[in-house]
Amino acid sequence: MSLPLLLAPSILSADFVRLAEDIARMEEGGADMLHVDVMDGHFVPNITIGPPVVAAIRKVTALPLDCHLMMADPDRYLEAFAGAGATTITVHVEACPHLYRTVERIRQLGCSPGVTLNPATPLGALEEILPLVDMVLLMSVEPGFGGQAFIPSLYRRARALRATLDAIGRSDCHIEADGGIKLENIREVVASGVNVVVSGSGVFDGGDPVGTLRAMRREVASGMAV
Ligand code: DX5
Ligand code: ZN
Repeated sequence: MSLPLLLAPSILSADFVRLAEDIARMEEGGADMLHVDVMDGHFVPNITIGPPVVAAIRKVTALPLDCHLMMADPDRYLEAFAGAGATTITVHVEACPHLYRTVERIRQLGCSPGVTLNPATPLGALEEILPLVDMVLLMSVEPGFGGQAFIPSLYRRARALRATLDAIGRSDCHIEADGGIKLENIREVVASGVNVVVSGSGVFDGGDPVGTLRAMRREVASGMAV
């Protein structure tokens, strides 16, 4: 099974004062979903977005909201994010001692469950949960900030994860990569087995998010033609 490429620009790099305008730009550029980075100042050092902002975003776009919870004890807030309009809720394996329950709860709330690993967390930590999730997010930076340098072990990890998913009959499970992905490396990221690509600074920093998103899709398509 070959999963479609899904571009998930991260609103973390958008202009928070003009968020609706930047979201319209992402739609125009062909975003498939919006990546929403939730940081709690505890699991990660930064503080960003909470459920009220997700609810406000929900009102201005029909795009799926891909909520990446970089927070300790996310179980306390699953209902709030689901109620705010999250489509996908992705939790960190490192923050969830009862992952089975957390993933089931996300599904019960009507959202699509994802799990994510920091760059140094072994893939083996996913073994028991893979049958139950819709998406695995592999971090290609340490979570906490936009604009950090891509960690290249992502390529090896995505290849290994794709092979494992195929072997257990879960070829339908999405692999998302997050951190340091730009026009320059998106083709290689996708070639390693990733089909959901997050990009924040790579989309916004050049000042032309619409053109950059379109160029990213072309870049991946051109890689597939060869
Ligand atoms: C990092 C966040 C990322 C971040 C990506 O902790 O999870 O989603 O916004 O930003 P870039 O693409 O700039 O690395
Ligand atoms: Zn993220």
